[in-house]
Amino acid sequence: MFRHTKLLQFEAKPEKPDAVYARKLQELIGGAYGEMTVTMQYLFQGWNCRMEGKYKDLIMDTATEEIGHVEMLATMVARLLEGAPATATAEAVKDPVMAAVLGGMDPQQAIVAGGGAMPNNAQGVPWMGSYIVASGNLLADFRANAAAEAQGRLQTARLYNMTDDPGVKEMLKFNLARDTVHQKQWLAAIAELEADGLEDTPIAPNTLFDEEDQTHNNTIWHLSDGPDGASGGWSKGEQAIEYLMEPKPLGGPGTAPKPDPALYGTYSAAKDAAGTVKGKAKEAKNKLK
Ligand SMILES: [Fe+2]
Ligand SMILES: [Fe+2]
Repeated sequence: MFRHTKLLQFEAKPEKPDAVYARKLQELIGGAYGEMTVTMQYLFQGWNCRMEGKYKDLIMDTATEEIGHVEMLATMVARLLEGAPATATAEAVKDPVMAAVLGGMDPQQAIVAGGGAMPNNAQGVPWMGSYIVASGNLLADFRANAAAEAQGRLQTARLYNMTDDPGVKEMLKFNLARDTVHQKQWLAAIAELEADGLEDTPIAPNTLFDEEDQTHNNTIWHLSDGPDGASGGWSKGEQAIEYLMEPKPLGGPGTAPKPDPALYGTYSAAKDAAGTVKGKAKEAKNKLK
């Protein structure tokens, strides 16, 4: 069961309307790393968590906080749109600056949402469920969570530099702080999984090491120009990952099989690609002639 309280987690009001900034804030609501993503990511991780206790509670606490962030941002968008465009459109006709500002706004915030936020990103693309990660493996998921909070904090920091409005900045200062502590908590929770003996770092999942191909689990393929990749610390010392400076393909040509005739793929039986089993047999025959 979820309950709603009418109070915002943090209160901030813009000094003046800013329709263009209201559009930019959409990225923090419905973008790939916005508050809707972390809300749904944490909710599904929590619902799918098979262990009652501290991990599940941490996930659900944070999920519920993130819903509150969607609410804060949606409220801020509505406040930034106050007076725009319905009452400002008439003014815009006379004032080119105003016209430019309204021209950069998200028209759907006015036309579809009646002067409010949408579950979209800053380009109007609807939020998608496929943005979220909820695998049931807490090590893999907590890493995704730390990454999501990092991307979210980065975008918040960029948006912080795109406004002079003290009220908006006040809210973003709070958001930056929460993104800081959320990164810290997910990293600490990863260490805790290890301390509790539930998961081992650094490789997730911690299994099938004997079964995996032993010749290919410690090499970096040098596949771009220049030697610089090999100068990294990752290929030095005791834990060095070997840099394969001249890697060779392990397989033959990636030739697709003969197409189903009912699908009308262009095909000639006489022109088997060189390197295929058939092609090689034909080559050998020709040499014998
Ligand atoms: Fe958040
Ligand atoms: Fe967060």
